[in-house]
Amino acid sequence: MRTKRITSSREAAEIIQAGGLVAFPTETVFGLGADATNEAALQRLFQAKGRPSDNPLIVHLAAASQWPQAASTMTDHAEQLLAAFAPGPLTVVLPKHDSISSLATAGLSTVGIRIPKHPAALAILHEAKLPVAAPSANRSGKPSGTTWRSVLEDLEGRIDAVYCEDSASIGIESTVVDCCHAAPIVLRPGAVTMEQLRQVTPDAKSSDLQSINQQAKSPGLMHPHYQPAARVTILSDAEPVPVDPRFAYCGMQPLKDGDALGLYAVFPTVEDYAAQFYEFLREADRRALSAVFVQAAPAEGIGRALLDRQHRASGGRRE
Ligand code: TXA
Ligand code: MG
Repeated sequence: MRTKRITSSREAAEIIQAGGLVAFPTETVFGLGADATNEAALQRLFQAKGRPSDNPLIVHLAAASQWPQAASTMTDHAEQLLAAFAPGPLTVVLPKHDSISSLATAGLSTVGIRIPKHPAALAILHEAKLPVAAPSANRSGKPSGTTWRSVLEDLEGRIDAVYCEDSASIGIESTVVDCCHAAPIVLRPGAVTMEQLRQVTPDAKSSDLQSINQQAKSPGLMHPHYQPAARVTILSDAEPVPVDPRFAYCGMQPLKDGDALGLYAVFPTVEDYAAQFYEFLREADRRALSAVFVQAAPAEGIGRALLDRQHRASGGRRE
């Protein structure tokens, strides 16, 4: 099966309604959409990505008011956060509605809900009139796809269609906030920053992912993620980078001999750094480079989410 290139939201919605798999752009990264109430479609989705079945999927809706299609209860914190950040790069975790397949939620009693802001994603969701499960559109473990060509590098022949539009994307996935407890808990840092969340819900806290408790709550976070074939090493500011054409470097600080590297990128802002990060890792693999040195992102604003992805890309290694 050749993956169809499409640019019609109606066609994308029809494929999803028929149980098919369609990759589409969102303002964070590309998602791989399937009907969240259709077990056969979800089984194909896990297979296409090579995704472990214990990693729950985010359910996408066309509007926050449609939450009863996916969740059984709304909580005060989720309501406040959705009012402030939906549509946008936020996922709230709520008690699950029975109509959502337990395959989508990996057997958990909760469900992650997101209303994306990207016009193509919203148009597809409006036309599909279904809750759409959409993990990032990449092979499991790899960097997420932020262009349709990257999506096809991983998924050509494994999915029915890809919606071919690239857009100025945030480049880092949504912030996942568990809203089922007394205080909101950030399970995955993302494009909505901790500073922004605390303006709405001042008691929002970061999860301690080391704790057994949190592992049970969001098991997928424990799998390897965002890793290219090249070995990724995080640099703090002071360290020199070995100048070698088999190596790559990206960061916000220029290098003296940067042009002698196999791939070299300096980003003017942390937002640009985040937007280009996954594509940079993929380009290093296209050039078959052996090592990628990444300057540690500043640990504030969206830099916190980028730093989290850098740590995961490096498999925890630090120079
Ligand atoms: O920006 C995004 O969120 C993108 C776009 C496509 O919307 N999607 C995305 O999906 O990043 P995925 O599957 O790559 O990541 C979903 C994350 C995982 O870390 C998963 O463990 C967590 O959300 N998650 C989903 N449902 C959950 C639940 N019920 N409880 C806790 N964590 C959940
Ligand atoms: Mg993913």
